[in-house]
Amino acid sequence: MAGFDDPAFYGDRWAGVYDEHHAGRDPAAAVEFLAGLAGDGRVLELGIGTGRVALPLAGRGISVEGLDASMAMVERLRAKPGGDSIRVTIGDMADVPVSGPFRLVYLVFNTLFGLLSQARQADCFRNVARVLGPDGVFVIECFVPDLTRFDRGQRMQALAVTEDSATFELSCHDAAQQRVTAQIVTLDGRGVHLRPVAIRYCWPSELDLLAGQAGLRLRERHGDWDRRPFYAASGGHVSVYQLA
Ligand SMILES: C[S@@+](CC[C@H](N)C(=O)[O-])C[C@H]1O[C@@H](n2cnc3c(N)ncnc32)[C@H](O)[C@@H]1O
Repeated sequence: MAGFDDPAFYGDRWAGVYDEHHAGRDPAAAVEFLAGLAGDGRVLELGIGTGRVALPLAGRGISVEGLDASMAMVERLRAKPGGDSIRVTIGDMADVPVSGPFRLVYLVFNTLFGLLSQARQADCFRNVARVLGPDGVFVIECFVPDLTRFDRGQRMQALAVTEDSATFELSCHDAAQQRVTAQIVTLDGRGVHLRPVAIRYCWPSELDLLAGQAGLRLRERHGDWDRRPFYAASGGHVSVYQLA
């Protein structure tokens, strides 16, 4: 059976419920931010998924292409209006198996952390640098790790409870590997539904180091897509890298 080491695993297990589960995540601010950087250049989204961000960006006339490991996620993108006109490559975002140059490459919603080793995250930075044009930028959106979430390496949290169902998250934290392995579990009249997630998290300082090793340097860092300041208590960041 496929497992976390298969790049398609997450998408294949989530595709059927992804949009419904994340319906509350409004992409408007991200689209505004990314559109400002894209101009009239070529744009690549790594881990394009069901097109949550790429479709509204393409709707603004921006030339967006995508890469994803999961055919099931891309099929959901294809089923949406405009989804057929976005060119998508099936492959591993650590390898970035496409040809540049791109004005903008972006990786949102913590998707970089879906690469489960430092080596593969480093590969991703290096391969993004390879396809960026001279004036190109790489934008990533990630959370800032909060290890106080875990009590002796584990966490259980109720996410939603209704008359007929309960959804909760069960997570295990491996501090040595900087890895969190979780199941989003739903219990309802049809049974038990398991949605697996594994990530390798990084602090912003490690991301900057990986970027530096790939020949990129940090140009700006914000606390969110609306460019609020990034500071000690920020729960996440939007970071913009350019060729050094
Ligand atoms: C959290 S979803 C984000 C989807 C979309 N970017 C969004 O913001 O809604 C992560 C996406 O990355 C894809 N993915 C995960 N690991 C990948 C890998 N190693 N290479 C390519 N795509 C990958 C998944 O299939 C999924 O579509």
